[in-house]
Parts: sequence; C-alpha cells; structure tokens
Amino acid sequence: MSKTILGLAGSLRQASFNAGLLRAAAELAPQGTRIQIGSIREVPLYDGDVEAESGLPQPVRALQAQLAAADGLLMVTPEYNNGVPGVFKNAIDWMSRGEGAAIFAGKPVAVIGASPSGFGTTLAQTHWLPVLRTLKAALWTDGRLMVSRAQSLCDDQGNLTDDKTRALLRKFVEGFAASL
Ligand code: FNR
Repeated sequence: MSKTILGLAGSLRQASFNAGLLRAAAELAPQGTRIQIGSIREVPLYDGDVEAESGLPQPVRALQAQLAAADGLLMVTPEYNNGVPGVFKNAIDWMSRGEGAAIFAGKPVAVIGASPSGFGTTLAQTHWLPVLRTLKAALWTDGRLMVSRAQSLCDDQGNLTDDKTRALLRKFVEGFAASL
C-alpha cells in the first residue's frame, strides 16, 4: 500500500538549505512513498485572541488536514541560536490547537536538518524532542541526519547537490518509510 509523508521545512528563505533538503528527500523517496511538501509560509503568528474569536486560520487548518491524511511527518529544521526557529515552532504550535492534539498523537515523526555550521542542527533537533513528546508524537529514532557545512553541499538555490549526502538522505527516508 502506498504511503504519504507530509514534509515541512522550517525556513521561509527562498534559497533555504532546509527547503532544499526537503525537496531532495521528496525526490529520493522510495517507490510506494510520496513526500508531500507542505508550507508554513502563510501561517500567522499565534494569537490566542484570534483563536478564541475566529478559530484556527485557514492555512493552519490546511496543514492539519494534510497531517491528518499523512502516514508520517518529516520535519526539516534549521537551527537558530542553538534552538528551533520561531517560525517553525509557531507553525507547529498552531497545528497543535483544536483537533491538532489528536492529529499529532501517535503520528510517526522524523526530524532532520541542515546548517552551514559544523554541527548541522544537532541542537535544534534535540530541542524538538520535548515538543514532540508533549504532542505524543511517535518519534522515529532509527536514523539521524545532520547536514553540516550545507553551503558546500548545495547550489545557490539551496538544492542538495552532494552525492554522498543524497545517499545518506535516501537511506534515512527509506528507513523512515519502511517503518510506516
Ligand atoms: C542562525 N544560524 C545558526 N546555525 C547553526 O548551526 N546554529 C545556530 O545556532 C545558528 N543560529 C542562527 C540564528 C539566527 C537568528 C539565524 C538567522 C541563523 C545559521 C543558520 O543555520 C543559517 O542561516 C541557515 O541557512 C538557516 O537555514 P535555511 O534558511 O538555509 O534553511
């Protein structure tokens, strides 16, 4: 049976290494698995008053629907100041509201990331752990992928061009897909 993984990259930058890593993951997904690339771009800043008065904004409901329909979630996280980027946390926070708690609970989630530093989002990936635990997501831990020195592995559009890293990414995606 075919599987769908929702992929979210946590950067709004046009030439984002993380968006490029997600595009490469979608290209390298094994037969029978589709990585659907979602977008956090239209998600507004979380505001409890907006939620109380109008409910969840349409872009949030759209992402929730994509997640609900998916067999798993692939989060591709940048690292900001040794933590997670606010825009990405904001999107996940919105998605956790309303029906979100039920959607995340038990959902298989894998986390990868890319950065120009030598540590390749190790700390950002670690910072997602308490968030995912709180959401009762089923974190996939059989593989890890931290893409460091991303500027030397990607072209100027953020596309992942390095063969060795693409092979590691293929193995990661194959492993996650096989677990679903
Ligand atoms: C960064 N960057 C960064 N990189 C890193 O490896 N560790 C860090 O702690 C930080 N801190 C940080 C803070 C802020 C506010 C910014 C804007 C950037 C660099 C970051 O990895 C780099 O900008 C990446 O290119 C961001 O990912 P995208 O946009 O290429 O996907």
